[in-house]
Amino acid sequence: MSEPHRTDVLILGSGAAGLSLALRLPPSLTIALVSKRDLSEGSTFYAQGGISAVLDAKDSMASHVADTLDAGAGLCDPDRVRLVVEHGPDCIRWLFDQGVAFTRDDSAVDAGGYHLTREGGHTHRRVVHAADATGREVETTLESRARIRANIQLYERHIAVDLISGRKLGLPVDRCLGAYVLDQASGEVKTLLARFVILATGGASKVYLYTSNPDVSTGDGIAMAWRAGCRVANMEFMQFHPTCLYHPQARNFLITEALRGEGGRLLLPNGERFMPRFDGRAELAPRDIVARAIDHEMKRLGAECLFLDISHRPADFILEHFPTIHAKCLEFGIDITREPIPVVPAAHYTCGGVVTDDYARADLSGLYAIGEVAYTGLHGANRMASNSLLECLVFGALAAEDIAAQATSAPSPPAVPAWDASRVHVPDEAVVVAHNWEELRRFMWDYVGIVRTNKRLQRAKRRIDLLRQEIIEYYGNFQISNDLLELRNLVEVADLIVQSAQRRHESRGLHYTLDFPFQDAWQCHPTVLIPDGYRPRPS
Ligand code: FAD
Ligand code: SIN
Repeated sequence: MSEPHRTDVLILGSGAAGLSLALRLPPSLTIALVSKRDLSEGSTFYAQGGISAVLDAKDSMASHVADTLDAGAGLCDPDRVRLVVEHGPDCIRWLFDQGVAFTRDDSAVDAGGYHLTREGGHTHRRVVHAADATGREVETTLESRARIRANIQLYERHIAVDLISGRKLGLPVDRCLGAYVLDQASGEVKTLLARFVILATGGASKVYLYTSNPDVSTGDGIAMAWRAGCRVANMEFMQFHPTCLYHPQARNFLITEALRGEGGRLLLPNGERFMPRFDGRAELAPRDIVARAIDHEMKRLGAECLFLDISHRPADFILEHFPTIHAKCLEFGIDITREPIPVVPAAHYTCGGVVTDDYARADLSGLYAIGEVAYTGLHGANRMASNSLLECLVFGALAAEDIAAQATSAPSPPAVPAWDASRVHVPDEAVVVAHNWEELRRFMWDYVGIVRTNKRLQRAKRRIDLLRQEIIEYYGNFQISNDLLELRNLVEVADLIVQSAQRRHESRGLHYTLDFPFQDAWQCHPTVLIPDGYRPRPS
């Protein structure tokens, strides 16, 4: 059995949230940075549209705040929205300093020479981007910086199993002390102890059968925090992106909202434009409205997909702004300069998550949550486009500030028991895991999707309870693997989504139910779930 690994800061996750935090911490702190696949694999890498921030002299903080509140359908925390929006321009400047190359437009004098695009819900052009592959530019730039920092030790292809909580172990220290982490190459479960632990594990959209997200988005951080006694909020607000490429061989490929921002029109199979019938902002209405309109029209017409058309813009413009989408669609025989793109909605973003404060602190002392894993109050009932990467960067910076301020006072973790694998066996029925993965994601798609009903939620809940029991039993008896750990987390998150959806007896933002198809002023508050054994963090 190996000795525990000790470090000052343990960061679980290497997307925009985890990497920006790691790079902002003082170099005097030792950091363990864990990712369950290669460092770059996560939603950040695939982000297309860009990052929103007030960078144009004609734009204003008040306008960015107002648009975010409007998209959030009354459920954003206005103080948090202001906090994030006000830190936006500094975070973009920090990215420039790290070497991120955003698309330039020398004629955009008011915007400092950067091309700003538009997306749904934004009343101004305020989305800075690197063509249509903003995430790749951000992730690879930050990754290359992190790889050469002497104080950062990388643990790639390591998956965190659970947080280590002093309280749960019955130790006198009521803090998060680290995490048990499975080394996927050796099968060893390592004990990583740290004075500060950060969840930067991304979202949970893999709980649905169809998603724009990469495979890592299995809600691990939300499930781990919940098991460790932290509150989780607003899980009913799972965002569906209106336009993912519809093609039998295309897996998880998004068609950015910026394409609509630059004039793209949504069309029915007969070529008719339909969004103006649903909202005055047409294709640039907030995402929940566009996704619901597409869902409605697909069901009404029995259509397998609808279409997104930008072919009326000059081919040069399309190639300059959307080179990645152009190339990807061509692989499937679709030339976006000449024809419309077949699209369908897919699960895209987890608006809820681990409850955090102004400095990204979660309920357990020493534990932080940043990025998509967190519930900060920014997104309310529906996230506005390109506010997510912004949130990762802002709370990465604020958490770094808080950790640096406590760097000398936070205690070192005491000794804890090593992972005990002595009583479990080699799995003899891996088919159980594969079957349950598929079943869970399918019924979540069918019963807990864009349009819900009480009956569908009850059906989902019954199935979740059965699966949960089976998975817990399997987990207790057999050696752990990546797939088993992710399934265990997905079923936990599915339960949190359904429980939250069952509590909201109205339709608001991303939560739409035929049983309560109206918005109710009395329910204008977040849905906060409280775990067994919850204790507020001492201030
Ligand atoms: P991620 O980037 O998802 O990273 C998660 C990290 O956690 C990974 O390193 C993963 O390996 C690690 N991890 C997870 N579980 C574990 C575990 N158990 N143990 C160890 N490590 C673990 N937002 C915008 O603002 N603008 C956009 O243009 C935009 N476009 C998008 C396009 C696509 C296709 C997608 C999918 C999302 C897009 N979003 C966009 C949303 C945004 O990209 C994400 O919300 C954001 O990147 C999340 O960053 P993150 O750092 O929180 O998590
Ligand atoms: C997109 O480019 O459409 C995604 C933007 C986002 O999710 O914020």
